[in-house]
Amino acid sequence: MKTFHTIDGLRGALAGERRAGKRIGFVPTMGNLHDGHLALIELARERCDVVVCSIFVNALQFGLNEDWDRYPRTFEADQEKLAGARCDYLFHPPDREMYPNGLDSQTKVVCPAMTDVLCGASRPGHFEGVTTVVTKLFNIVQPDEAVFGAKDYQQLAVVRRMAEDLCMPVEIVSAPIHRESDGLAMSSRNRYITAPERPRANQLQKTLQWIVEQLQHGNRDYPELEKQGREQIEAAGFQLDYMAICNSRTLEPAAFDDSEVTVLGAMYTESARLIDNLTLTLEKRGEADAE
Ligand code: PAF
Repeated sequence: MKTFHTIDGLRGALAGERRAGKRIGFVPTMGNLHDGHLALIELARERCDVVVCSIFVNALQFGLNEDWDRYPRTFEADQEKLAGARCDYLFHPPDREMYPNGLDSQTKVVCPAMTDVLCGASRPGHFEGVTTVVTKLFNIVQPDEAVFGAKDYQQLAVVRRMAEDLCMPVEIVSAPIHRESDGLAMSSRNRYITAPERPRANQLQKTLQWIVEQLQHGNRDYPELEKQGREQIEAAGFQLDYMAICNSRTLEPAAFDDSEVTVLGAMYTESARLIDNLTLTLEKRGEADAE
């Protein structure tokens, strides 16, 4: 695996691959890689000839009171994991390479749809930071495909919408959520969970699963299911940010006759904010069922 810290260096190497007709797969990350990230690399490996991974902790997507300072930076260990996963190129730019004019006057890419709800409601500006850096990374790497984990479902939907709206010549690929043995979705932020709360930290996944089962049994009282979901999270000792049953594509509140729905949740533990989601296909029901 070759590691580059400059845009020119990486572009030079990838130009050769492109000239040779290779299909380039890209996995953008913020590092602190776990098995979930390695599964993204694996998927890119299966689908493409060349795999590029980026590690960049993007200050533009962190709010003022968020964890940019303490976000785990584990570059050497990440590099070893990526080499083991047969990644071909690692891009690890310093801040000045990505934001040479500073953050304040940086040109932004804004996706007005879907970004001020769910995670966007409690993290203002977050998705603007994501769409801006992902656009820059796409312009640098010029991948044929880019793989994003479904754990960050809203991010995936927003990036898809951005790529469609801006005619970006890249296929956005979704990779399934990787989970710990008790169901907790893998995340770099899981390391913030304290030992006493860890055994209960899978409550979000359990509640999402309970809502999915209710939906599969024909319960379409979405507000009541969301309310009961909130009660379950609070009874386990956590604070809920949101619990929402949404249309999988638009992330608007699910309509009675939507067939592709995603149940999304976010909750606060003592020291971490955890997110998770489950997507399911509902059987179409006739008008008569609505009564
Ligand atoms: O999902 C992440 O790790 C980040 O939001 C991303 C896509 C690498 C952009 O910084």
